[in-house]
Amino acid sequence: MDKQHKTAKYHRIYEQLKDLVNKTDDDYARMSTISALLKNKFDHFFWVGFYLLKNDELTVGPYQGSLACLVLEKDKGVCWAGINTKSSVIVPDVHAFAGHIACDSRSNSEIVIPVYNKKSEIRGVLDIDSRNFDDFDDTDRKELEKIVELIYS
Ligand code: SME
Repeated sequence: MDKQHKTAKYHRIYEQLKDLVNKTDDDYARMSTISALLKNKFDHFFWVGFYLLKNDELTVGPYQGSLACLVLEKDKGVCWAGINTKSSVIVPDVHAFAGHIACDSRSNSEIVIPVYNKKSEIRGVLDIDSRNFDDFDDTDRKELEKIVELIYS
């Protein structure tokens, strides 16, 4: 998909989510809705969901896709890299990422976006796995960073 079409698609998704999150301020309901919409709008995303910080552990939250690891080993893998660097992480080839935690062998590329609450504390990450290699770029990063801001808006 070219950049222009991808951006337009994300903008439509954002507008739809903006209306949907107004129905409740419950963060789990909002995360569930974001996961469901993204998973269903992008065919090649086979896992979309959240890992949330709890007692210094990353535990799976609302998600759509195949069965996921429940708790991620501390400071290992892509999700922890997003937490520890407090920035989004794009991994074009997960097999080349040292420490990558493979919950499903079909994953070939991945993006992780940090999620902040109203007090600007890091709450966890949005994690998306794709069957395609090199599936995420700066457009995805930018648009997904905007989408996760809706959770605590
Ligand atoms: N690959 C992630 C683990 C979560 S699964 O992709 C759903 C990681 O390395 O942190």
